[in-house]
Amino acid sequence: MKLVRPNEKFLTSYYEACKEDDDYSPNTERIFGDPNTIIQKSRDYENGINMKHGYVKATTFWLIDNNQFIGEINIRHELTDFLLNYGGHIGYEIRYSMRNKGYGTKMLQMTLPYCKEVLKLQKVLITCDDDNIGSAKVIEKNGGIMENVVINDIERGTVKTRRYWINL
Ligand SMILES: CC(C)(COP(=O)(O)OP(=O)(O)OC[C@H]1O[C@@H](n2cnc3c(N)ncnc32)[C@H](O)[C@@H]1OP(=O)(O)O)[C@@H](O)C(=O)NCCC(=O)NCCS
Repeated sequence: MKLVRPNEKFLTSYYEACKEDDDYSPNTERIFGDPNTIIQKSRDYENGINMKHGYVKATTFWLIDNNQFIGEINIRHELTDFLLNYGGHIGYEIRYSMRNKGYGTKMLQMTLPYCKEVLKLQKVLITCDDDNIGSAKVIEKNGGIMENVVINDIERGTVKTRRYWINL
């Protein structure tokens, strides 16, 4: 099992994962990007190029197991007001067919050394919807301590957001 940056080698597998989401999990919050642009876009965001207004630098990793794309994790290098209340430092998703097999917990665990050693973060904020039990468990199993639950009015409506910190 390894983390790699988005690249051509696993792009077909990424397409399949996006299709799985469309077919079986259309209403979950999507982290996966557009397969046609993900490689260039993730490179740009890591280097602070062509970013949308108000966005910060971010690194994207893909979790690969048995030569297959399993999940994606995005690490924002710093927090804005929006990220502080809603998005946090890190967002992730495991492809539909691979959920509930421990991959989400493992992918976050494998990402934390990068946050500490490369980004020099002392703690990371990770958030999830109050009713996203799977995500809350992934965070808690990686040492997340809940600070509070806040209400956010966002595009998809009014949501309760759990805010957790992991000390690195
Ligand atoms: C949230 C998500 C990343 C969890 O990944 P995962 O690989 O399924 O998680 P794990 O297999 O590591 O499971 C961790 C724990 O959560 C539990 N769990 C996972 N999905 C669950 C669900 N839908 N409901 C209840 N518990 C769940 C597992 O049983 C496990 O608990 P245990 O250790 O007590 O047995 C995955 O479900 C997903 O991609 N969801 C859609 C996108 C999303 O919500 N991203 C997070 C946004 S904050």
